[in-house]
Amino acid sequence: MGSSCHLKNSYRVVQKLEELRKTFPDISIYGSLCFGHCSEGVCVQIDGKIHKGVTEKNIEKIILEAKNESNYLQ
Ligand code: FES
Repeated sequence: MGSSCHLKNSYRVVQKLEELRKTFPDISIYGSLCFGHCSEGVCVQIDGKIHKGVTEKNIEKIILEAKNESNYLQ
């Protein structure tokens, strides 16, 4: 939701996440204000880890990697 990430098309990442929820229904999506890494946005936080440079093209890979590392995601 931060302005820098918004200008870098964060809404497209959200749209892709909504699409991925059909495959990974255990994913919950929450809006967040700035993570303080604006020059490296779009930023997404998963299980406390901030991922930078997120796009609609790489978010699925990031989700899959996070699920492999996670104690929470199935
Ligand atoms: S607006 Fe996204 S990290 Fe600052």
